[in-house]
Amino acid sequence: MGEKFTLNVDGLTHTVMADPDTPLLYVLRDDLGMNNPHFGCGLAQCGACTVHLDGQPIPSCITTISAVGQAKITTLAGLGTPEKPHPLQAAYIEEQVPQCGYCIDGWLMTAAAFLRDNRKPTDAQIRSALEGLKCRCGTHVAILRAVKRAAAMMG
Ligand code: FES
Ligand code: FES
Repeated sequence: MGEKFTLNVDGLTHTVMADPDTPLLYVLRDDLGMNNPHFGCGLAQCGACTVHLDGQPIPSCITTISAVGQAKITTLAGLGTPEKPHPLQAAYIEEQVPQCGYCIDGWLMTAAAFLRDNRKPTDAQIRSALEGLKCRCGTHVAILRAVKRAAAMMG
């Protein structure tokens, strides 16, 4: 049965019943029916499950629902809209980055927080900010192009 939790996800309020130790990722996907973020490693080692908690990227696979508190949750779906995409979303399309797309939440949510605080980053700073994220399709070079394109749009 679990406990009652109220979550703010992408600007909408949801109430769910869950065990306090349930990973936020499971609640987002299984209880709220979201198609993203994704389950990759389940160990905070790939980034596929990344969401923002009050603007900071976190691995939702190891973040329990009880640790969320009142923080606002933003997923990739809440970063922009088809009509008004986030510059990173627009740049991803323009640079034709995605292959399977499984890793996309990690790169975009991490880069979004980074570019918000670093409007004119160097290549080295971008690489450092994205260190540890995985893309099994090998799109890393295209990802870097997209992040630099988005930085130029935002700067
Ligand atoms: S699934 Fe969370 S970091 Fe890999
Ligand atoms: S596009 Fe397939 S894992 Fe990155």
